[in-house]
Amino acid sequence: MSAVAEQTQVAPRLLADRINALEESSTLAMTKMARELAAQGHRVISLSVGEPDFKTPAHICEAAKKAIDDGFHGYSPVAGYPDLRKAIADKLKRDNNIDWKPENIVVSTGAKHSLANVIQVLINPGDEVVIFAPYWVSYSEMVKLAEGKSVIVNGAFDNDFKVTAAQLEAAITPRTRIVMYASPNNPTGAVYSEKELREIAAVIEKHEDVYVLADEIYEYINFTDEGHFSIGSIPALKDRVITVNGVAKGYAMTGWRIGFTAAAKWIADGVEKLQGQVTSGTNSIAQKAATAAFNGPMEPSIEMTKAYARRRDLVVGLLREIPGFKVNMPQGAFYAFPDVSYYFGKSDGTTQINDSDDFSNWLLNNSYVSTVAGSGFGAPDCIRISTAAADEALVEAVQRIKDAVATLK
Ligand SMILES: Cc1ncc(COP(=O)(O)O)c(C=O)c1O
Repeated sequence: MSAVAEQTQVAPRLLADRINALEESSTLAMTKMARELAAQGHRVISLSVGEPDFKTPAHICEAAKKAIDDGFHGYSPVAGYPDLRKAIADKLKRDNNIDWKPENIVVSTGAKHSLANVIQVLINPGDEVVIFAPYWVSYSEMVKLAEGKSVIVNGAFDNDFKVTAAQLEAAITPRTRIVMYASPNNPTGAVYSEKELREIAAVIEKHEDVYVLADEIYEYINFTDEGHFSIGSIPALKDRVITVNGVAKGYAMTGWRIGFTAAAKWIADGVEKLQGQVTSGTNSIAQKAATAAFNGPMEPSIEMTKAYARRRDLVVGLLREIPGFKVNMPQGAFYAFPDVSYYFGKSDGTTQINDSDDFSNWLLNNSYVSTVAGSGFGAPDCIRISTAAADEALVEAVQRIKDAVATLK
């Protein structure tokens, strides 16, 4: 047996159980496959990745260059530089009506890291985390890593994929510790209104050991007239809402890796303690860039959001012309999330499509359009299509999808 084959056989046995139990991120897996096909020379249109196709605004890049020149090269405080924590506290007051001091804020390596930290800090083995589905692929895996139990509550297509207060009430048990959701939502683009969140808050208020983990990473990419509402602004729940946000989506800064947790002091202290043993303070230059983002002009973000809204209209309009596709109208973020289950059980004569994984793989291999199966998001009838791409690429991608499904019988 070759050394490589031997290594491959040994690996699963010696990997820790918690890693063997973990699913690979389906969005990253799809993006990797798309890159491989592109490297083989295929004209792949990649609509699987969840990232803006814009560049980080210039004033933010300038702040990073200045940070390098000014010598911010050393370790930063574990919870982040004081000026960044202050900029975040100001942002929360200004945009979200949430009144936290800098000491309530911990800066981490992206909102993903912030979410994973909070779950590690609050969840004991067997504790339940209610997750509003469709949900971002990593939520359930983060809960698994903490040995918690995910309780998935499905938002109905007819309610724009949103979970109701009554559904939440029915899901809460004495073991529930966290209720977790994203608004605007990845993958559906659904936005919870103030009314809906107040109803949800009223349910949570009755259960004093239940906390809310509000993922607001798409806050600025919101197409509604009402705009964003933060559940953390409701006074009765203030100490029980953990707000997570960052710079990735709204400022086109996915690679800079800055996210934050804003929470009651004992939770923020717990996150800082964990981070102090695992990663320390995050990248010093990126923190200076994020400070400039939170303190700076919003015009670039507003312009990007206008572009996402226009592309949403374009893509949803075209997808709705495809026979059998059921498409909701996203109110934020940059994804379309069509229900493609009409095609399950159909075949192109060679390959039978049985579920959204088959559908998404088949599309990639036949039309060279990469999407992500809804199964990883807890919505096995759907596929996720990123609309963060140039108009021409989006039009061509949807045309390729339309031509491809026409061959399914
Ligand atoms: C709903 C949701 N939360 C959090 C994140 C992670 O954001 P970050 O890049 O800041 O880690 C993403 C990224 O795709 C997301 O879609």
